[in-house]
Amino acid sequence: MSVLQLSTENYQNVAIRDIKLGMFVVAVTKQKGDIHFKPGMVSSEATCRSLQSMGVLEVKIDLSRSKHQQETLLENPESNLAPEEQEQEILTTTEKTELRKRAQKLYAEAKVLQTKLLNALKNGEVVDIAPIEAMADEMVDSIFKNPDAMVFLSRIREKDTYLMEHSLNVGMLLANFGRFLKLSRQTIKELLVGGLLHDTGKIMVPDEILHKPGRLTVDEFAIMKKHVEFSVQFLDKSEGISKIVRTVAANHHERLDGLGYPRGLKGLELCLISRISTIVDVFDALTADRCYKKGMQATQAFRILLQGGGTQFDETLVKKFIKCMGIHPTGSLVKLKTGKLALVVESNDSAPLQPVVKIIYSTTGKHYLDVKVIDLAKTPTEEIESAVDPKEYGIDIQKFY
Ligand SMILES: [Fe+2]
Repeated sequence: MSVLQLSTENYQNVAIRDIKLGMFVVAVTKQKGDIHFKPGMVSSEATCRSLQSMGVLEVKIDLSRSKHQQETLLENPESNLAPEEQEQEILTTTEKTELRKRAQKLYAEAKVLQTKLLNALKNGEVVDIAPIEAMADEMVDSIFKNPDAMVFLSRIREKDTYLMEHSLNVGMLLANFGRFLKLSRQTIKELLVGGLLHDTGKIMVPDEILHKPGRLTVDEFAIMKKHVEFSVQFLDKSEGISKIVRTVAANHHERLDGLGYPRGLKGLELCLISRISTIVDVFDALTADRCYKKGMQATQAFRILLQGGGTQFDETLVKKFIKCMGIHPTGSLVKLKTGKLALVVESNDSAPLQPVVKIIYSTTGKHYLDVKVIDLAKTPTEEIESAVDPKEYGIDIQKFY
């Protein structure tokens, strides 16, 4: 920051082009023309732009009142996110298989731990968060090494263990989204823990409401909504819960337009962490199979999120989420134009419509094929026609992983 000059212990002069979110501006030190200025924190990119357009050239900031990046994530919705290009390690097929096996083992262990946690809470026992934290660390490592494997696992689910799997999946998808947004490793880990613990309050909701097929009555919905408060109460009683974890639990049902619950927060009251939590929570809920409904395909869920973009959800973040997941996320089944069914096993960030797939079934011949992995980006004869529901063809995708 070449233009920074230290003026007093707590103040710095900052050129307008170097202004960052979270900085607390106390005065304008250089300007063009006449301006009206009010001291305050730079809480969004829009504020930066408006200072520039007002003719502000340099400002004085108060360091003691400015926020660090971690706090900024919780207070500013339009965080100064880095570009999305990811530097991914290039892995051999054997290394990928090895990582996939490890991810699978980790996921199985995580399910056991998550089930234990929910049972302990149900029995009113004191819960130790430490094992969850340790598991989150390992899962974040796995997400960094092979995000596809973790996303794939989140797409496989059994309907009777909804709460456990939903929490685990929201955790993994949040962490993966955090990786995509280039948030810090610590933030990613806290997002994962936040996902694991965000719905713990649901164990206090009676089963007949929690698992009710069809619409809840107004009274039942009022009880269902209480799960957020119960989750927060549980977290507040536990030691070492970070602000990020608490925010995921407290705000994952809030909506940008203020029509969410429990507090009806809206617009700028919802920070980046809250905004990404709502998107991931809704995506996982829509794509989940329940005893009373079939889960949607990812592409349908993306459409719903896009429809709510700008009203219920942050539109830019919805688009980033879709980019992060890939139009056909790992673990989806697709139909190729040649009539073959293929499982998406690896995403392709630069060409999202051309992932690496495993061909498994012929819809014309109605029989399984010898499994063959092809990279659609390198196979011009094969092209995705649409996403399909594995249940439509009675295919258990887990067998082909
Ligand atoms: Fe929830």
